[in-house]
Amino acid sequence: MTETNPAAAAAEHPDAQDSAAPGREIPGAPSSVPPPVAEPVEPGAPVPPKPDQRGPQTYSPTGQKTGIAQKEVAQGGDRLTTAQGTRLYDTDHSLKAGPRGPSLLQDHHLREKITHFDHERIPERAVHARGAAAHGVFQGYGTASGICKAAFLGEGVRTPVFVRFSTVLGSRGSADTVRDTRGFATKFYTDQGVFDLVGNNIPVFFIQDAVKFPDIVHAAKPHPDREIPQAQSAHDTFWDFVSLHTEATHHTLWNMSDRGIPRSFRMMEGFGIHTFRLVNAEGASTLVKFHWKPRLGVHSQVWEEAQLTAGMDPDFHRRDLADAIEAGALPQWELGVQTFPDTEDQTFAGIDLLDPTKIVPEELAPVKPIGLMTLDKNPSNYFAETEQVAFHPGNLVPGIDVTNDPLLQGRLFSYLDTQISRLGGPNFPQLPINRTHTPVNDMLRDGMHQTAVHRGVAPYRPNSLDGGCPFTAGADTGAYIEFPEPLPATAKVRDAAATFDDHFSQARLFWLSMTPTEREHIIAAYTFELAKCREPAIRERVVGTLANIDGELCGQVAAGLGLPAARPAAALDDPDPSPALSQLGRRWPVDGRTIGIVIAEGQDLSGVRTVRQAILEAGMVPLVIAARAGTRDADGDPVAVQRTFATARSIEFDAILVAGAPAPASDAYGARDAKADDELARAGVDSRVLLLLTEAYRHGKALGAWADGADALEAVGIATDSPGVVAGDQAAPVLERVKELLGGHRVWDRFTPSV
Ligand code: HEM
Repeated sequence: MTETNPAAAAAEHPDAQDSAAPGREIPGAPSSVPPPVAEPVEPGAPVPPKPDQRGPQTYSPTGQKTGIAQKEVAQGGDRLTTAQGTRLYDTDHSLKAGPRGPSLLQDHHLREKITHFDHERIPERAVHARGAAAHGVFQGYGTASGICKAAFLGEGVRTPVFVRFSTVLGSRGSADTVRDTRGFATKFYTDQGVFDLVGNNIPVFFIQDAVKFPDIVHAAKPHPDREIPQAQSAHDTFWDFVSLHTEATHHTLWNMSDRGIPRSFRMMEGFGIHTFRLVNAEGASTLVKFHWKPRLGVHSQVWEEAQLTAGMDPDFHRRDLADAIEAGALPQWELGVQTFPDTEDQTFAGIDLLDPTKIVPEELAPVKPIGLMTLDKNPSNYFAETEQVAFHPGNLVPGIDVTNDPLLQGRLFSYLDTQISRLGGPNFPQLPINRTHTPVNDMLRDGMHQTAVHRGVAPYRPNSLDGGCPFTAGADTGAYIEFPEPLPATAKVRDAAATFDDHFSQARLFWLSMTPTEREHIIAAYTFELAKCREPAIRERVVGTLANIDGELCGQVAAGLGLPAARPAAALDDPDPSPALSQLGRRWPVDGRTIGIVIAEGQDLSGVRTVRQAILEAGMVPLVIAARAGTRDADGDPVAVQRTFATARSIEFDAILVAGAPAPASDAYGARDAKADDELARAGVDSRVLLLLTEAYRHGKALGAWADGADALEAVGIATDSPGVVAGDQAAPVLERVKELLGGHRVWDRFTPSV
């Protein structure tokens, strides 16, 4: 990846003047202007907006740049009004016939306020309802210019973007860390119109044809009778469908791998999945697959951690994204393409490029970097931006075209259709977050929530009354012209190419490309999910499909379910593994990682101050954990406590440093806090600290200790010479070693794989 300084990239952002560049800070700090404790009696200024936030750039509903500051289009004035701007004197009492009498129908304020509230909710997305988003900028490298005429890919061209990450299955309020595919949708506000790259963090899909989308979604969503389970694939209908519909095998295997439980949105790859077509200035076509490569590498939680997180912090991924941007650890991805000649059969190395259940291994077609995306601002209003944004795979700009992938073809219909219902009519492209940054002259008129005031009388062509406008453009004036793909003479059929019948070879390729640790996780995931199914026939059927991936996988899962292993339908091939598919074994930057620092009351804090500063300087987030909140400033240089033993849980930290061995705190008794196990407290260390350390240890996290910290590790039976455990006399060298361990994400050599 090309080295770019995220903070510098942010400073150059078109909106950089909107607010100060974020500094390195610990997220969650109180407002810079603290609100008073008492209710104000005179109008005052609101708490200032946070520097890490911004709204959509200000364009008119018809794509004209207005340049109006965001605060000018937000509500203003310091007096309460009706929606019509009439000032109100009371909003706490409805208009009544006397203080004890019935409310009067004529109370316009009551009716307006309640009616608006009654309509505050809009339908959530049918899929991908749960999401979080951020603004950013994409900068082209110019390396794609030879194959694509899209101007935003030109060298140094900077384009504002808005990215929404999501889970697929859960409702809007569901947990972030469930096992699921993640959406990765990017809106590029280019000078030639909006381009949406609506991808996922997994490069293949469950189905080969869009007509099956309602089937897979109905199967994966909660059971229709009890509406459970929420946001999970661990239930009968999901496994019933994917075991009968074996083209889902490859995607299901990815979901059961660590890819299904990402550590962070910032640590996910993104994929366009389908093969797209790029067209250059000469009209030549190249087939491509899009890849987003995260600067921080691809990393995951472990399953127990993901489950704990879903309860402890259901907003974990949402918070992580917002906190990282607030702290100045700006997430970055490089956009890359795999390129393939546009041959008549549209295959590459024998792989059908129109089959969305297939990848092309990067070892066969390397990913060529074409630009860099930096996310630098959090949205200023969740509903207006993250909820109302509407992506569509058909939002394309000249130089980017679709292929005949039957999954993509159906998507081209579905998004616009669903958004008409979700966003209440056909004018949602006029919502601020969806507005293009190019002039719109579309002859589309009227409809619900029309906010543009059109001029002229002739929204039709040809006309003479509006001067013949709008005129159409040509290739030389920036028109989007579909690639004139020649089509073979053929019959009309409901069918697919014979190459689509291979449902297992790439699942096997994926399995063979995994390290032993990753295979353990996959075996555990299948065994867990299937053990949650009630129907023995479904478990048996899935074990049958696993035999077509790998004998070891099938045998281990079968053993876990108490079933006999199955035999493959045909002898299995041994394709060359694709090392690029594995997440492990490399080293990555540690920006934005969260490090917990446990301190004891009354201890010397000089080492803590040193590592806190060093962690901040390394672009990471230090969170001090102590018995009670507040600050510790025995020698006049205060150290703020961010977490108490009661509020801290291991899931929040990528590594833990132990600066002392805190004695049981005054609230450390089981009757108040079940984590405060009275039995464990006898070790002389607060048992919440011991739980923190044991969980972190079994989730493969680095642990460091100095001063009395090693006593806390020993109290819970973690030897200081265990893999990934660093003990020393001085804080600074301990932190250095922990940082190195963090670069590898987790310490897997603590555990011995069975396969
Ligand atoms: C490669 C396959 C697919 C990928 C990568 C994909 C990706 C996505 C993503 C990322 C979103 C969330 C967008 C957002 O954040 O607002 C989404 C939403 C959606 N997808 Fe797909 N999807 C795929 C297949 C399909 C198919 C085949 C259909 C239907 C035929 C479909 C229908 C929908 C619908 C209805 C939504 C909700 C859109 C909205 O309400 O704005 N998707 N998809």
